[in-house]
Amino acid sequence: MAVPESYGTTYQAAEDRYENLEYRRTGNSGLDLPAFSLGLWQKFGTDYPADVQRDIVLHAFDLGITHFDNANRYGPPHRAAEKFFGTVLRKDLAHHRDELILSTKAGNPLGPSPYLKGGSRKSLLSSLDHSLRDLGTDYVDIFYSHRPDPSTPLEETVGALVSAVQSGKALYVGVSNYPAETAHQAAELLRAAGVPLLVHQPRYSIFDRRPETGGLIKLAAEDGFGLVVYSPLAQGLLTNKYLDGTIPAGARALNSTFLSADDIDDTYRERAGALDEIARERGQSLAQLALQWVLRQPQVTSALIGASSTWQLDHNVRALEFPPLTDEELALIDRHGIHGTGVRV
Ligand SMILES: NC(=O)c1ccc[n+]([C@@H]2O[C@H](COP(=O)([O-])OP(=O)(O)OC[C@H]3O[C@@H](n4cnc5c(N)ncnc54)[C@H](OP(=O)(O)O)[C@@H]3O)[C@@H](O)[C@H]2O)c1
Repeated sequence: MAVPESYGTTYQAAEDRYENLEYRRTGNSGLDLPAFSLGLWQKFGTDYPADVQRDIVLHAFDLGITHFDNANRYGPPHRAAEKFFGTVLRKDLAHHRDELILSTKAGNPLGPSPYLKGGSRKSLLSSLDHSLRDLGTDYVDIFYSHRPDPSTPLEETVGALVSAVQSGKALYVGVSNYPAETAHQAAELLRAAGVPLLVHQPRYSIFDRRPETGGLIKLAAEDGFGLVVYSPLAQGLLTNKYLDGTIPAGARALNSTFLSADDIDDTYRERAGALDEIARERGQSLAQLALQWVLRQPQVTSALIGASSTWQLDHNVRALEFPPLTDEELALIDRHGIHGTGVRV
């Protein structure tokens, strides 16, 4: 891709950006991903200052975060996050496209049109074309089916993912929010088509244990795909920001439809407070404990975090600087990390 004329902001990528972060192999593939990836789901729409968003993305890259996760829906409004990222890519990161892993997803509803939702070939492939236009790139690195669609034959959804790779518009494919059994069927179909399933993107945190209980972690090992786990901080509930009973200005619980003040109740505070104690005993923060906890699983390739400031990024990427969790600490975390706490399941 030729460097556009508009290239030329003052951004210079940090020279030491590959010196500190760990990179992990994704399943049986040849692709390494950073232990932390940055998602643009929240706070990357038109409702948040673009200069702050730009600082966060570029700071992430400076820290060695090479993987940026998008979806056609991210905003608000829908598609705004990809348009924003496209601007940063064009103006600041054009020279670094080869160093970036960009992902996008399709299949979650965008509107009332039957072609703007679901897992049909039409929905997935026209959305991918739209995302490529918004991102201003010829290809994405990972194209996901955002969620299973029982009303569409799995063969059709998988066939669209295969076409995305065969047409050169995606390098790898993934599925997200698929239960283990459906993920296994998709992996088999993809393998037969010569396009192995690179990665699954489930929600996983101390407060959401479904990848453990639903067999996904075991399946990832058996089928040879990686896990890029989203909301490892349970959208901020696994940080210390809500522990004192108040909600700080600007926090997600005040301004998102996906987390509300009602989710922050006494049961949540009691459990999160106990987890915070465990973290303090280890000399780390609750956020760092929560991230280290998901990354203890070898099948977890990357913890997919959100951030509303560069401080959060700096703080969170230090999570792997602490000693591994002991069996006693893991048992204690299990006692307070009750599935479903504060999060909608
Ligand atoms: N595949 C799917 O269906 C799906 C669904 C959801 C998300 N995702 C992906 O996963 C990404 C991450 O999800 P997420 O944003 O829910 O992840 P998360 O890491 O659990 O939550 C991130 C939020 O927690 C707060 N935070 C982060 N670090 C903090 C710290 N050290 N101290 C205090 N607060 C802190 C920030 O919110 P505030 O400061 O704004 O409060 C931040 O935006 C998304 O961007 C998206 O790419 C995928």
